[in-house]
Amino acid sequence: MNAANQQHACVYGLSWGDEGKGKVVDLLCPAFDVVVRYNGGANAGHTVCVSTETFALHLLPTGALHANVTAVIGPGVVVDPQTLLSEIDELAERGIDVTGRLRISERAHVVLAYHKLEDQLSERAAAARERIGTTARGIGPCYADKMRRSTAVRFTDLLHEDDLAERVRRIITDRQATLTAMCGEEVEIDADAVLADLMTARSRLAPFICDTTELLHTAMDAGQSVLFEGANGMLLDVDHGTYPFVTSSSTGPHGIGPGAGVPPSRVTCLIGTAKAYATRVGSGPFVSELNDETGDLIRKRGKEYGTTTGRPRRCGWFDAVSCRYTARLSDVTDIALMHLDTLSGLDQIGICVAYRVNNHTFTTVPADARLLERAQPVIEFAPGWREDLGSVTRFEDLPAAARAYVERIEALVGTRVSIIGVGPERSQILIRGRVASLVGAPGNTTTQQAS
Ligand code: GDP
Ligand code: IMO
Ligand code: MG
Repeated sequence: MNAANQQHACVYGLSWGDEGKGKVVDLLCPAFDVVVRYNGGANAGHTVCVSTETFALHLLPTGALHANVTAVIGPGVVVDPQTLLSEIDELAERGIDVTGRLRISERAHVVLAYHKLEDQLSERAAAARERIGTTARGIGPCYADKMRRSTAVRFTDLLHEDDLAERVRRIITDRQATLTAMCGEEVEIDADAVLADLMTARSRLAPFICDTTELLHTAMDAGQSVLFEGANGMLLDVDHGTYPFVTSSSTGPHGIGPGAGVPPSRVTCLIGTAKAYATRVGSGPFVSELNDETGDLIRKRGKEYGTTTGRPRRCGWFDAVSCRYTARLSDVTDIALMHLDTLSGLDQIGICVAYRVNNHTFTTVPADARLLERAQPVIEFAPGWREDLGSVTRFEDLPAAARAYVERIEALVGTRVSIIGVGPERSQILIRGRVASLVGAPGNTTTQQAS
């Protein structure tokens, strides 16, 4: 892409993750030179369905599926080398080679076996109502080490630190004592195995490790376009989400600064993804949750089972309160509304427009998770539609009730819906307005992207 067309964009989740970010990033990839993951780690699971093949990416940016894209793992990502190597190998077996176009920041932190162990043990040790329901991928413990500093391991350490093995052994002795005290029984960490994994990571990943911050600035100065791929979702953001039932990173476009080393102000196209209903995996408040047959129906139709852990996702009505909150926090420019097809066949569709606690009405998300747990949803109902949407290619061809539903969401959230998902397939997507010009597609049509 030349400088005249240069535009940087971010795709991120407006909800609790799994909104369909992978599919939207995949759609946009042909218009971008570089795709960057800037937060989270292997807790993410981004799916792309291409005819009979399904790709589920945890650490590799979705851009890795596109041969012309440089795939960058930024400083803000916590990287489990074993998971990353398995992903690289799996893609290679499927004919996709990332050699020469994958870049890992030397500033990124390394997730080690003891982080994953601590994640599991601390969940087990917590009282049931305090369990976060993490993905057990070691995310929280690795970010905690990053903040503690003295117990952190970065990719640059793999290449440069002479006494790394000695330091890792010291960290492990310290971790063992902490975990033993937490569990009330002896916890052993196999230091030799951890070091062996580190050495494998060093030898296999060394060619990919570099200063990705410099790489991104050089690419942007040369007129290349960069797409930032958020992981998790803004209701899981460590500062703005439903704390403490959140992940440990900055999940919205504000995370691009620390997580990629690029000023967020450089990114002008902010595509927040949401489903046409709401889902959540793990614990924590979910005001519009449907613990009934409708919730079960949505789970079954939408195949709502976690990409990373396989856990059934909790399902509920679209929550306009939290979506407006995260839309405003992130200054979203466009919404990608996915899974509209999943709602076909319902007589009426609910939208949560406010929360009620005792006699108080909330139209934004309060900070207190205990209060949110007690909140009752105020639901507005819209008429449903019967038609299957899987082969619709233009917004105008959606049933009138489906169009009205989308327009009601636009009005409640205060943002245009520019992308609509009508099925899991790469091609089952409608594009409206200026996003169409971004991906080189005629307005209001479906595009089929080749990788
Ligand atoms: P991500 O983490 O935000 O990338 O989302 P996930 O990949 O974890 O979950 C989204 C799921 O919905 C995946 O199984 C996708 O294949 C699927 N999906 C995405 N968009 C649509 C859509 O518009 N309709 C349907 N039926 N499925 C979709
Ligand atoms: P993608 O990128 C859905 C949730 C976990 C748990 C909480 C904390 O696929 O949308 P963690 O392991 O991060 O400490 O878990 O956050 N969670 C996600 N839920 N999609 C994700 O990523 C998630 N990443 C974390 O279920 O509730
Ligand atoms: Mg996911």
